[in-house]
Amino acid sequence: MHEFLRNLPKVELHLHIEGSLEPELMFALAQRNGIALPYASVQEAKDAYQFSDLQGFLNLYFQGMNVLRNEEDFYDLAMDYFKRARGEGVMHIDMHFDPQAHLQRGVPLEVLMGGLLKAKQEAEETLDLSIGMIMAFLRDRPAEEALQVLEQAAPYWKLLDAIGLDSAEQNNPPIKFAEVFKRAKQLGLVCVAHAGEEGPADYIQQALDILDVQRIDHGVRCLESDELVERLRREQMVLTVCPLSNVSLKVVEDLRDHPLPRLLKEGLKVTISSDDPAYFGGGMLANHTACAEAFGWDEAVFRQITQNAIEEAFTTPGRREELLARLQAH
Ligand code: ADE
Ligand code: ZN
Repeated sequence: MHEFLRNLPKVELHLHIEGSLEPELMFALAQRNGIALPYASVQEAKDAYQFSDLQGFLNLYFQGMNVLRNEEDFYDLAMDYFKRARGEGVMHIDMHFDPQAHLQRGVPLEVLMGGLLKAKQEAEETLDLSIGMIMAFLRDRPAEEALQVLEQAAPYWKLLDAIGLDSAEQNNPPIKFAEVFKRAKQLGLVCVAHAGEEGPADYIQQALDILDVQRIDHGVRCLESDELVERLRREQMVLTVCPLSNVSLKVVEDLRDHPLPRLLKEGLKVTISSDDPAYFGGGMLANHTACAEAFGWDEAVFRQITQNAIEEAFTTPGRREELLARLQAH
């Protein structure tokens, strides 16, 4: 099974590139940029990655990315993850990034976009890996700020595959960002949003009704509403489920208690992603093998999940055909 999963042409729809910053690279970048870290060693950083909820993680996530200062740092961050993912058999990644988290620290938008776009181009040319770009807004910051950042990103609109919504979910409902997403729609941008990770099923409903999203990131709490489950099934709305993330952030106690098997049984369009692999115990392969162990899934289940992800990936028709053919051949 491990070999099957390694060679499966996996597609990751939900990845925060800042959450792929491994402690080793964090130390290297801290040294390069003359920044002091709150950890004495790589091991001490790893030991600190014990979370009791989303906010506890976000605190360390925002602290960790403080080492990212120059274009080269963003390039190194992304290439480091792309190479690692490709080594695990990943063929496509839709990458979230958080401009506000960098702008707040005085890092210009051009610096992060320059580094990420260079890495995307190189990965597509040399690694046989395709990359989607999702510019995400921090939902615990004011909506006006998100709107300003969206306008500031005008030179990059054509290069974005979607806009997203992430960070602390509780008490930051999708409706808070109605104006921002309306403007994005006017610009012809696709919209996605985190919903139903820590927040209630109603936030998923709002993301669909008010933000008109094409994808729900996480969405595991949809099971609290039969009506919503019925709708998600009818619309075949894709859910980007992140199993090891949900365990790390105590959305579930144990992977064996995870709602993934129920979501599948309900006929929902489920996919598997790593979310923040440097913080949650592993990337795409670790997430897949953990599911195989916890749920006893056979190859057919993983094929279905991979096909779901290929169908929904932000990529060209040609690349999608290529990925489907690879899946067939596997
Ligand atoms: N930002 C990075 N990871 C996140 C997650 N799991 N939920 C919300 N915002 C995030
Ligand atoms: Zn996420």
